[in-house]
Amino acid sequence: MPELREILKSLRVWDTELPGFDPSAAPSAPLPLFVEWFAEAVAAGQSEPHTPSLATVDGDGLPDVRTVMLHGADEDGFHFASHAGSAKGRQLAAHPQAALGFYWPAQGRQIRVRGDVTTQSPEVSQADLHVRSTGALAAALVGHQSEVLGSQEELESASAAAWEHAQADPKAPAPTWTAYALAPREVEFFQGDARRRHIRLRYRATAAGWVRELLWP
Ligand SMILES: Cc1cc2nc3c(=O)[nH]c(=O)nc-3n(C[C@H](O)[C@H](O)[C@H](O)COP(=O)(O)O)c2cc1C
Repeated sequence: MPELREILKSLRVWDTELPGFDPSAAPSAPLPLFVEWFAEAVAAGQSEPHTPSLATVDGDGLPDVRTVMLHGADEDGFHFASHAGSAKGRQLAAHPQAALGFYWPAQGRQIRVRGDVTTQSPEVSQADLHVRSTGALAAALVGHQSEVLGSQEELESASAAAWEHAQADPKAPAPTWTAYALAPREVEFFQGDARRRHIRLRYRATAAGWVRELLWP
């Protein structure tokens, strides 16, 4: 077996030219900066910049985390979707707060978002699904997310049936599919620096609007 510590020691981060970031020129709200950074991540060739980690907490206070797809970001918050019966769905129903973490190594950038999660209506949730690919609809129609699976064969036959269903009826409802919006209380933008003078700009929501603060790296 390879020696993990040796492999880890040989690895570096940001072996590339990093962009600058002038926090004094940052907009007064985080959304325009998020959109700007997102577009720059795509332009820089960052793979899958739209797949943040989503952290939630269960009834025992135990954190949980997994990757999701970002479906949008606007004045209502950061949008993603999943099954209401999944672990995250149950955790969000009991404790509607979450965090999203984006990491874009091509530019040494990280964005962290924390806030309150609202469950969207069934109409919004189904509409969100029906503008996506046949594969996304088929996956949603399979359902049972995070339940124990008896065998691979069970999945194969459920998936084959779901693909047929999705192809025959592109508007087929997937009742447990649920859209969520995370309304940020805090959004932090991190720009890595080769000399470790990383720039961290945090936006914090207050009654008077967004407050911008620099943080020690
Ligand atoms: C790139 C990527 C994108 C994913 N997007 C989603 C998504 O949008 N919604 C979703 O429910 N699961 C998505 N998943 C699967 C989740 O990471 C996770 O395995 C699943 O939702 C079960 O999580 P849970 O048991 O914590 O609820 C994605 C996984 C990867 C690797």
